[in-house]
Amino acid sequence: MFFKRTLFLFLLQHLAIVSGYHHYHHPPHYSLDTDKTALLAFKRTISSDPLSTLANWNVTNDVCNFTGVRCNKQRHRVTQLILNSAGLVGLLSPFISNLTRLRHLEIVDNDLFGIIPPEFSSLRHIIHFQLDWNNLHGPIPDSFSLLSNLALLSVMGNNLNGMIPPSFFSNCTLLTNVDLSSNAFSGTIPPEVGNCRGLWNLNLYNNQFTGEIPMSLSNASDMFNLDLDHDGNTDLDPFFTALANCSSLMELELAGMGLGGRLPTSIGRLGVNFSVLFLEENMISGPIPPNLGNLTKLMWLNLTSNLLNGSIPAEIGGLLNLELLSFSHNFFTGEIPASMGQFPHLGLLDLSNNKLSGKIPKSLGNLVQLNYLFLNNNLLSGAIPPSLCQFPDLSILDLSYNGLTGSIPPDISRLHEIRVFLNLSHNLLEGPLPMELSKLENVQEMDLSSNNLTGRIFPQISNCIALRMINLSHNSLGGPLPEALGNFLEP
Ligand SMILES: *[C@@H]1O[C@H](CO)[C@@H](O)[C@H](O)[C@H]1NC(C)=O
Ligand SMILES: *[C@@H]1O[C@H](CO)[C@@H](O)[C@H](O)[C@H]1NC(C)=O
Ligand SMILES: *[C@@H]1O[C@H](CO)[C@@H](O)[C@H](O)[C@H]1NC(C)=O
Ligand SMILES: *[C@@H]1O[C@H](CO)[C@@H](O)[C@H](O)[C@H]1NC(C)=O
Ligand SMILES: *[C@@H]1O[C@H](CO)[C@@H](O)[C@H](O)[C@H]1NC(C)=O
Ligand SMILES: *[C@@H]1O[C@H](CO)[C@@H](O)[C@H](O)[C@H]1NC(C)=O
Ligand SMILES: *[C@@H]1O[C@H](CO)[C@@H](O)[C@H](O)[C@H]1NC(C)=O
Ligand SMILES: *[C@@H]1O[C@H](CO)[C@@H](O)[C@H](O)[C@H]1NC(C)=O
Ligand SMILES: *[C@@H]1O[C@H](CO)[C@@H](O)[C@H](O)[C@H]1NC(C)=O
Ligand SMILES: *[C@@H]1O[C@H](CO)[C@@H](O)[C@H](O)[C@H]1NC(C)=O
Ligand SMILES: *[C@@H]1O[C@H](CO)[C@@H](O)[C@H](O)[C@H]1NC(C)=O
Ligand SMILES: *[C@@H]1O[C@H](CO)[C@@H](O)[C@H](O)[C@H]1NC(C)=O
Repeated sequence: MFFKRTLFLFLLQHLAIVSGYHHYHHPPHYSLDTDKTALLAFKRTISSDPLSTLANWNVTNDVCNFTGVRCNKQRHRVTQLILNSAGLVGLLSPFISNLTRLRHLEIVDNDLFGIIPPEFSSLRHIIHFQLDWNNLHGPIPDSFSLLSNLALLSVMGNNLNGMIPPSFFSNCTLLTNVDLSSNAFSGTIPPEVGNCRGLWNLNLYNNQFTGEIPMSLSNASDMFNLDLDHDGNTDLDPFFTALANCSSLMELELAGMGLGGRLPTSIGRLGVNFSVLFLEENMISGPIPPNLGNLTKLMWLNLTSNLLNGSIPAEIGGLLNLELLSFSHNFFTGEIPASMGQFPHLGLLDLSNNKLSGKIPKSLGNLVQLNYLFLNNNLLSGAIPPSLCQFPDLSILDLSYNGLTGSIPPDISRLHEIRVFLNLSHNLLEGPLPMELSKLENVQEMDLSSNNLTGRIFPQISNCIALRMINLSHNSLGGPLPEALGNFLEP
């Protein structure tokens, strides 16, 4: 996500400034020469270098000039090794551990295999350790507890396994970012993680963790993004209550994890800047607590595919920064609250596949930034409010599979930006096709089938120049089909 990256970069720069350069007397047996030997030893274990990235790594060249290598200002020692997306195939050599003044190791998106050598614990100055998207297996070495300058450990997308050693979190004053996602780690999440008060990103997604979410996480008061993976937890209340202490938490991503239970009222006490809540594809049941409306900075909210029911609380209208709201595939009943028309930045509203009834509130027409509106597969009735035709930037409008009555409002022509599709099928709409439909020049698909539309199909409908599909079947329309339409009328 964009702002995650931005913050992350900011943080790295900030760290680089605050930690600066320290004048240590390094043990005499390590020097620029041993750094060179180590890098050449690393090169020897690489069996394929398709882009010749390591071509200038040889005995005669200056090690500080090797591609991907940086030294400190005095050119005494190697401090940085970055070799991303180079197609390198080979063993992750233990010789790297001899680069004892290395601060930044980043070998992302290659095909390194083998284990993370326990000898890497001699990289005492390492701040940034990143080996995402390789083919490494085995555990995070116990000895990593010695890397007390570590700010970032990111090993996403390997085949690493075993338990996270609790000692890894024993001295983590500087640790801010841990991404172990998409590996095969197992066991419980060590409660010691609560020692890492500066942690703002913890991503354990797509592993095989079991057991409770440790409540000690509440001590990580800078937590910004939390993306966990664990077996089902049916009491969400202690979890959200504890998270209320993570006052910097901005994102919570717990999609598709078999979470059960109800959303507790404590959800409203998440950090003041809390902005992303992804809980889709779980088994969360019961109603949405009105307190959710207290998260005034919330921007993205996805509760799709749960077992939520009851009516949508009017307090949801308090989420004035919402850009994306999806409640689809749940069991919500009652009316769509009129307060849902007051989100000035909402781009996507998906309430489809619920049991919402009553009229579509006129106020939805105030959602001036809306691009996508899905209200299909509900029990909505009454006429389509003309205000629904005033979105300046709408791309998709799907009101199909409801019980909407009345005629198609002629104002429909104001949706001239509609580019993707207009679907009003499977309702009880009646009356003639409004001539104004022909002004929807950019629409690609139009489905008005299975209504009770009457009258004649007018030839001007072929003015919809971008139209690929139009379905007018199962109505009571008469008259000759315009010849230009012959190509794409369905069925
Ligand atoms: C090392 O690489 C340079 C080019 O970067 C080349 O000119 C030189 O001959 C190479 N030395 C050896 C010993 O291969
Ligand atoms: C490093 O490379 C630059 C440019 O390729 C060259 O000018 C410089 O002489 C090299 N330094 C050493 C010490 O080899
Ligand atoms: C460098 O690392 C290797 C492997 O860990 C080790 O065998 C070797 O003794 C080290 N060399 C020096 C000079 O420390
Ligand atoms: C923990 O890390 C800090 C910062 O690097 C260091 O000053 C301190 O000595 C370490 N404590 C222990 C017990 O290792
Ligand atoms: C938070 O940290 C304090 C002090 O280290 C500790 O006493 C407390 O038990 C921790 N809280 C949790 C929930 O682990
Ligand atoms: C949250 O912090 C408050 C005040 O620091 C503390 O009293 C409370 O025990 C903490 N809650 C949890 C669940 O750690
Ligand atoms: C919330 O965001 C503001 C503005 O970015 C920042 O100044 C403030 O410190 C943040 N509050 C917390 C608790 O993180
Ligand atoms: C949170 O929301 C509830 C229900 O809408 C409300 O009663 C309460 O006063 C709100 N709390 C805060 C701190 O805004
Ligand atoms: C919400 O979650 C569902 C289910 O995973 C997904 O298909 C959908 O794309 C998500 N919506 C948005 C806007 O991200
Ligand atoms: C919501 O579902 C629960 C079962 O999960 C049921 O007991 C409750 O009556 C339902 N509430 C409403 C308002 O339908
Ligand atoms: C409505 O019509 C569009 C365009 O034909 C189609 O992509 C979409 O799946 C339809 N919606 C439903 C709920 O069938
Ligand atoms: C369609 O309209 C005709 C004529 O007004 C009416 O007799 C019929 O009941 C309507 N059908 C439906 C499904 O509403």
